[in-house]
Amino acid sequence: MRLRVLGIETSCDDTSLALFSRQRGVVGNLTANQLTHDKYGGVVPEIASREHIRNLLPVFEALLDRCDFTSKDIEGIGVSNGPGLIGSLLVGVSFAKALALALGVPIVGVHHLEAHILSNEIEGGELRTPCVVLVVSGGHTSLYHVDRVGCYQLVGNTRDDAAGECFDKVAKLLDLGFPGGPAIERVATNGDPQAVRFPRAMMVRGNLDFSFSGLKTAVRLHVESVSRLDEKIIADLAASAQEAIVDVLVEKTIACAKAQGVANVYLAGGVAANTPLRSRMASYSEQEGMDYHAPLLQYCTDNGAMVACAAARHLARGRDDGTSLDVFARGPIVSWS
Ligand code: KG4
Ligand code: ZN
Repeated sequence: MRLRVLGIETSCDDTSLALFSRQRGVVGNLTANQLTHDKYGGVVPEIASREHIRNLLPVFEALLDRCDFTSKDIEGIGVSNGPGLIGSLLVGVSFAKALALALGVPIVGVHHLEAHILSNEIEGGELRTPCVVLVVSGGHTSLYHVDRVGCYQLVGNTRDDAAGECFDKVAKLLDLGFPGGPAIERVATNGDPQAVRFPRAMMVRGNLDFSFSGLKTAVRLHVESVSRLDEKIIADLAASAQEAIVDVLVEKTIACAKAQGVANVYLAGGVAANTPLRSRMASYSEQEGMDYHAPLLQYCTDNGAMVACAAARHLARGRDDGTSLDVFARGPIVSWS
């Protein structure tokens, strides 16, 4: 587990690379965000792939510079190989394979959602299992029962939009830019979360699935019904939509932990950076006698460190995917322990 691992993340629009070792933790983590998608209100896959091609080498070189490392110090490589945008993944995986061949080191493909789950280990020590993890990002809203690291059971999932996607779409309706989550959170601090009672879907006892498309439609209908969107109305709508999303995420996660009889609750993914979600999850868990954990803020949204951290576990088992490593657009986390 002492390996110095390079982690590469290019599954969507962030080009992020990190150097990590279990002994020293994150030695460096560097991300190039693709701000160019803002004007389209969402990620354009073709543009994302081309930006990754442009960004990868400069980010890699800058990372080595900052860490005072040379490429010869890298002992293994981990790369997100799915799920995600195929073009973006291909750029990252091709770069990783070329580097692994040139350096003569092993390479492993990392499932993007396992990387999010294990982002909790970057600074938090070993995952406390058994636990329930809510993975909540732009593409996923999933509840996993993790019996031990490497053993993942999907127990709840979104039936339509992901929570992050809902944040992004509500932000677009309110003209707040992309990505929407941080913008909604910022604007919502001046709003009243009780101003509009937006729907909380599928809050039926025993149902651990999610649905956010109705909430998005409810916000759209509300926006269309008001004559003018002033600052106060925007703040109230942002706060009310955020409240509805957080309510559902917290209720279902705690209900899931209770149903599974586990005492550890984890957050992961970009939406886990949301402060109201973190604080409500913390207080509700405490009330229920559960231990709550979340990644550091900088490791919630996509980052190379979580990929390196997850890869370190796979490499330590002697895994090497070699040049046969391929990408996939969607697919479950395959348990390995
Ligand atoms: O994990 P991530 O970086 O990429 C995916 O794997 O999808 O998550 C990105 C998502 C976006 O939808 C973004 O709006 C959301 O995470 N997000 C937030 C916050 N920061 C990022 N949502 C709510 N509050 C935030 N502070
Ligand atoms: Zn992600």
